[in-house]
Amino acid sequence: MQITPIEDKTFGAVVTDVSLENLTDAEFPDIRSAFNQYGFLVFPGQFLSVEGNTAFAERFGKLHYDAHPMANKERKEDGSYGDTVPYQSQRMRGVFGNQNWHTDSSYMPISSKCGILSAVTVPEWGGETEFADMRAGYAALDQATKDRIENLYAYHSTKQSAARDLGDLPPEDGKSIFHDEAYLRPIVKVHPETGIKNLFIGRHAFGVQGLSREESIELLTSLRDFVVSDPSRVYSHRWQPGDTVIWDNRSLLHRARPYDYSQLREFIAVRVAGDPETEFAYEPTDPRAQAGRDTLEAEMVFLREEAKNKRYKGTSAPEARPTA
Ligand SMILES: [Fe+2]
Repeated sequence: MQITPIEDKTFGAVVTDVSLENLTDAEFPDIRSAFNQYGFLVFPGQFLSVEGNTAFAERFGKLHYDAHPMANKERKEDGSYGDTVPYQSQRMRGVFGNQNWHTDSSYMPISSKCGILSAVTVPEWGGETEFADMRAGYAALDQATKDRIENLYAYHSTKQSAARDLGDLPPEDGKSIFHDEAYLRPIVKVHPETGIKNLFIGRHAFGVQGLSREESIELLTSLRDFVVSDPSRVYSHRWQPGDTVIWDNRSLLHRARPYDYSQLREFIAVRVAGDPETEFAYEPTDPRAQAGRDTLEAEMVFLREEAKNKRYKGTSAPEARPTA
């Protein structure tokens, strides 16, 4: 197995001479330690099956969901693809929302440990996945900022991020990811496996405890902008069919990039849950959850107003862009 750090970046490595489909117990510890060290790993030319994606993910921990194919077109019964999913659908709105920097599942009781994506079919242009290093970003902060944020906590909610980034107020059906809960998490996270401190922010974060709404937005925006301001802390992955990429949701931000939506983009996706000892906030039944609901509802009062006339703002899809 060859592990080659990505040039001129603070993070990331390319791993070759290994087959993830036939990975052995003897090979896995090197991958696990490289994952912790580099934050994300690119495995070119794997063409990993759905079952292989699940098996690889399960080596890292309990899954949020099993590996499944994910595409921008309707899948027919014979396995072929038909029309592009409408831009206005919740599925595509979710895709557009994730064109903003985020970390997965921070709006759930247990946030995610890592995500794994495997490319099956890629469009001719665009569709990159970009990663940003919140470890190097934290390390580069001035001491006054580090001191200021040391004990600050932010709430995380996807209802809030959909409203803020897209002007989207998706229906709450009780089963979807859009719900009335907001989970409080520290802005400075100590990585459970390396002990290294990193920022823990992104589009789902809002409502920093102890700050006004304006101060909170200003702080979270400036921290995110600082992380991505240095090219050495940002990596853009141009997908080739067969690539598998794993990234650490505890210490990296990521975002999707626009592409030609008329072309098929087909991936296999799987997400690993964080460890309950280190990525758990609280359950909705916990007395602490009420403060999250109250903070979210107060924020939604502003966002419902701001969402007027700018529905799906932030969307890269031409037809879904607001006309106002
Ligand atoms: Fe994501």
